[in-house]
Parts: sequence; structure tokens; C-alpha cells
Amino acid sequence: MIRLQIDGRPVEARPGQTILQAAHQAGIRIPTLCFLEGLSPVGSCRICLVEIENWNGKLVPACVTEVEEGLRVVANSPRLRELRRRVLELLFAERNHICAICVSSGHCELQDLACELGMDSVRFPYRFPGLAVDASHRKFLIDHNRCVLCGRCVRACSEVEGAVTWGFAGRAVHTQVAPDLGVPWVEAESCTECGKCVQACPVGAIVERGKATAEQEKRPQVLVEITERRPRG
Ligand code: FES
Repeated sequence: MIRLQIDGRPVEARPGQTILQAAHQAGIRIPTLCFLEGLSPVGSCRICLVEIENWNGKLVPACVTEVEEGLRVVANSPRLRELRRRVLELLFAERNHICAICVSSGHCELQDLACELGMDSVRFPYRFPGLAVDASHRKFLIDHNRCVLCGRCVRACSEVEGAVTWGFAGRAVHTQVAPDLGVPWVEAESCTECGKCVQACPVGAIVERGKATAEQEKRPQVLVEITERRPRG
């Protein structure tokens, strides 16, 4: 076992485990957004930033950084809370997250993080991009205005369903998730209509059709239930 400290508490972890896994085992909360149990971690959102005291205070994403013997990790501090809040504010400023009219209001991981981190205002100018809603599919729709580009839909589709319908298209602020390299969803021949992307999406971007404000609840844990059962046959 590897011995380290998280927030001053001695913690043991197996080689290859991440700081996030070690912290969860020890009952220490580190907020996440792009991470989802059952999918491979990618470290893209930076909400889970932690500080490594004996690496000169270096900031690393806990979900993709493996434990090492003797690490002294700060998982919760005023500095980290401020940094995580800033990351969150940038996410809110980048697109159009209007909780009051969102189908996922009350069941949204972005909204929950804003409450947890005390984000009562956004200090960056909003971009207000006019992005499309693709409601071409008979069962689901994607509203790019609410997407946080966490890539959970992309990984759920490729790693759990094996359909590889979703991918990223474009660059920088123009990046969007897109089915079958950018066709309207209804024309995506690889889509099996399984709905795993809906369950993986942490916000109100990919949802079931016909939901009114605050009606869309999701079950992201279904992905870990599926992936845990597979090795058992
Ligand atoms: Fe670790 Fe997104 S949860 S970077």
C-alpha cells in the first residue's frame, strides 16, 4: 500500500489509484464534473484541482493524478475553493446556462457545484453565443447552449455502448460535441438510441424530449452498474 496525507489525514491507497479515489475511500470530498465513475478519467474540467504541498504547491487534477508515497495533498482550502469557483464561473460565462428555464434545474451537477462553491455571481463577461438546439432525434435532443464539454457523453457512447456516435468537432470556443462527425442527430446511423449519453450528461444539454423545466432527472450511476457487471459476465 502507498501511504500519503490528504488534508493532514493519513490515507492508504493501492498503487495505480488516483488521488480522487484515495480521497473518496477516506471520506474526503473533492468536487468533480468531467469525472464519472464507470468511464475513463480525462482531467478536462479542472474542478477537482488539488494542491501537492511537497511539489511546491503544484496544482494537479485529482481524478487523473496517481497517488505516490509520501504525497501531502491539500484537497480543501480557501485557495482551492476560489480556484474551483473561478473555473466554474468560466464555464457559466462560456455558454447560456439559465437555470430558471432549464429542464435539468434541480437535478444538475453544474448547478449543484455553484451552490457548493458559493458561486452567487459570475465575474467574467458572458459570451452569450447563439448556439443551435438539435431536436431532430425522435427521443432525445441536444442543446449546445447548456453543454459544458465534459465529454461524458462521448466516453459513455464509445466506452460503454460501443457505438462511438458522439465526438468533438471544432476548436477552442467553437468546440461542440457532434454525432457522426456533425450530421443532425436523426441522421447519425451509428446511434443505437440507448440513451446512455442522456444519463451521462451532467447538465441539461442532452435530455429526453418532452421534458418541461426541472423535469429531467438522470441516473449517471447506471453506467457504473453496467461496467461493474460486465467482468462478472
Ligand atoms: Fe477532474 Fe474534471 S473531474 S478534471
